[in-house]
Amino acid sequence: MTQPCLRTQVAIIGGGPSGLLLARLLHFDGIDSVIIERQSAAHVEGRIRAGVLEQGSVEVLTRAGVGKGLAQHGLTHGGFELASDGCLLRIDLERLTGKTVTVYGQTEVTKDLMAAHRASGTQMFHEASGVALHALGADRPSVSFDHGGQAWRIEADFIAGCDGFHGASRQAIPANCRSEFEKVYPFGWLGILADVPPCHDELIYATSQRGFALASMRSETRSRYYIQCRVDEDLDAWPDDRLWEELGRRLGPQVASGITTGPALEKSIAPLRSYVCETMRYGRLFLVGDAAHIVPPTGAKGLNLAIGDAHYLSTALGAFYARDETRGLEAYADVALRRVWKAERFSWMLTGLLHDFDDATDFDQRIRAAELDYIFTSEAAQRSIAENYIGLPFEDVLAGG
Ligand code: APR
Ligand code: PHB
Repeated sequence: MTQPCLRTQVAIIGGGPSGLLLARLLHFDGIDSVIIERQSAAHVEGRIRAGVLEQGSVEVLTRAGVGKGLAQHGLTHGGFELASDGCLLRIDLERLTGKTVTVYGQTEVTKDLMAAHRASGTQMFHEASGVALHALGADRPSVSFDHGGQAWRIEADFIAGCDGFHGASRQAIPANCRSEFEKVYPFGWLGILADVPPCHDELIYATSQRGFALASMRSETRSRYYIQCRVDEDLDAWPDDRLWEELGRRLGPQVASGITTGPALEKSIAPLRSYVCETMRYGRLFLVGDAAHIVPPTGAKGLNLAIGDAHYLSTALGAFYARDETRGLEAYADVALRRVWKAERFSWMLTGLLHDFDDATDFDQRIRAAELDYIFTSEAAQRSIAENYIGLPFEDVLAGG
């Protein structure tokens, strides 16, 4: 049986937020793409992930034609709270930066992107296996994979590696052509999703003698909470009532009185790491999103960085196909990595500030207390946190690296 071979302009490996969004942005520039996804559509749409969007991300998603759900159901937040041993400080994003963030779950972003794909008829292969990348240094790279018992090959001008941290794309870059930077944190986040009203109208990032906690939300009737936990924590040791009680202790009495408890719709533990792969380009392969970088969720940057990469790469590809201009493609990795590293710094800083580290010395603990004291008493320090949280501005990728 002959191997079916498709021809497209951009082969996209991975049908999560990065791949789906990139395909939508390319579609609006008249650029043809095909998505090859390992999991089923239901699996992709069922993932529970973070939910804070920078204003720049909202603008990119709107440009991709998926702004309606955001506009109707997204919650606009003008600030968030820092809590330290029960003392609250509101980081007034709107007064300090003139900007806001939108709370809208990644699950909903993914569903909106999937719905847009179905409507536009962009070709997607779900439940593809054995994905392999070929001829990345040539001008006719290709992707081979198995689907429905058939071996497939897709020839393309470019390949976008949107297949996340555990994907195949980054591994296709020869080890001597990439540098990897990683920090694994000695704790994880235990998250709970419940159909109960949020305890506060904005997010609360709390640090306490018992460790970190976060009070977030998905809507006015659905809440998302997290507590710092051991990486090897046994989820069975955390029945709902124990988790609700611990949340109240870490968020402090003023907040705890507003917590509505209820049965967990979902409960899981996620490890925390910082990771960056340099480069994000190898020949005709461009890495996007978690395939190239990971941040601890403390700064709510994971999805926003993926959106930023998709914005940069779609802009560069648009210029290439419209005007045969390669400057954006040449600059992509450097421009994207400048934004990535600043988000890595912010996420690392906030994680260090708000979490307990077993190996912290007495000096480390005094420094952390002084950092919190400085933030609670300095508008300049609060403005720095605010401008990073609402998202640093995009560069013009076509202006060159
Ligand atoms: N072949 C095809 N698809 C693959 C392969 C492979 N070898 N490996 C992984 N995938 C798919 C995964 O099933 C997933 O659907 O690639 C997709 C990658 O999606 P994400 O891991 O969500 O990464 P990304 O799209 O970059 O989105 C980043 O997602 O995980 C969160 O915190 C992260 O918010 C951030 C966002
Ligand atoms: C979430 O709502 O899941 C969330 C919000 C903010 C974060 C991390 C996760 O920093």
